[in-house]
Amino acid sequence: MSQAEPCARAAPEPGRAVTREGTVTQVRVSVTMRLWRGDPGGGALCDYSVPAQEGEVVLDVIHRVQATLAPDLAVRWNCKAGKCGSCSAEVNGRPRLMCMTRMSLFEPGTPVTVMPLRTFPIVKDLVTDVSFNFEMARRVPALAPRPREADGTHRMAQRDIERPQELHRCIECFLCQDVCHVIRDHEENKERFAGPRLFVRYAELEMHPLDTRDRRPLLREQMGLGLCNITKCCTEMCPEGIKITDNAIIPLKERVVDAYFDPVAWLGRKILRRGRPRVDSQKD
Ligand code: SF4
Ligand code: SF4
Ligand code: FES
Repeated sequence: MSQAEPCARAAPEPGRAVTREGTVTQVRVSVTMRLWRGDPGGGALCDYSVPAQEGEVVLDVIHRVQATLAPDLAVRWNCKAGKCGSCSAEVNGRPRLMCMTRMSLFEPGTPVTVMPLRTFPIVKDLVTDVSFNFEMARRVPALAPRPREADGTHRMAQRDIERPQELHRCIECFLCQDVCHVIRDHEENKERFAGPRLFVRYAELEMHPLDTRDRRPLLREQMGLGLCNITKCCTEMCPEGIKITDNAIIPLKERVVDAYFDPVAWLGRKILRRGRPRVDSQKD
């Protein structure tokens, strides 16, 4: 990690804080934010001391740094409610949503270090280029629903849709992608590894009660499902509490194993799917 540098040119007036709207409010403490500043050519950690109020989250304080000391600081955010997935960063070494991370989590009097996501290329300061994930998302074969019932409806039982509904909670924050060692430490693996967020998407479709498509050859041969060794780091990071490994990756692995190494089980499941036609994902 780079040596921290005091980048601030002036500290705000003690005992007061300026919000993004320009309102001045009373504050209780002063905090030091150690932020990575730089671009693809390189950068360094810079210290900014600003006031903080009780109940604030990391993103609040970063906005105060931006409003008072570093107007050119690049930071991505949108909802400030833990739902858009934009404000992901590494706070004191752990991937987190900045808008959902309370300042009270950290030891008073010690700097709070905020770095950009390490797995993705730097754009500027705390903003990274996460387009790898969207490229992988484009390669996921879409839902191929079975034909409608005679009355024109698509009926599903609630018990059959519960698992896909859990997986559908994903907010695409990419914290799981960031922490996954398969691509975090091995840039070269990005060519052949979709990553946990995309495995969640594959599982959501594979388990969908209306879907007829078979994505198992794609998962095995091009998406690197076998590279995942179920360390569960991704599950620990998920702000939506999705059980990524237990409820998405392991069931996908089981399906792939059944398809390739247990043809009897594969045939049995095919019959149980009530004769629905399966579409080969690799023909798309
Ligand atoms: S469980 Fe698999 S996908 Fe999740 S972090 Fe570990 S290796 Fe990556
Ligand atoms: S699965 Fe969880 S950690 Fe991964 S992108 Fe979705 S919400 Fe974020
Ligand atoms: S700003 Fe939307 S999740 Fe943090």
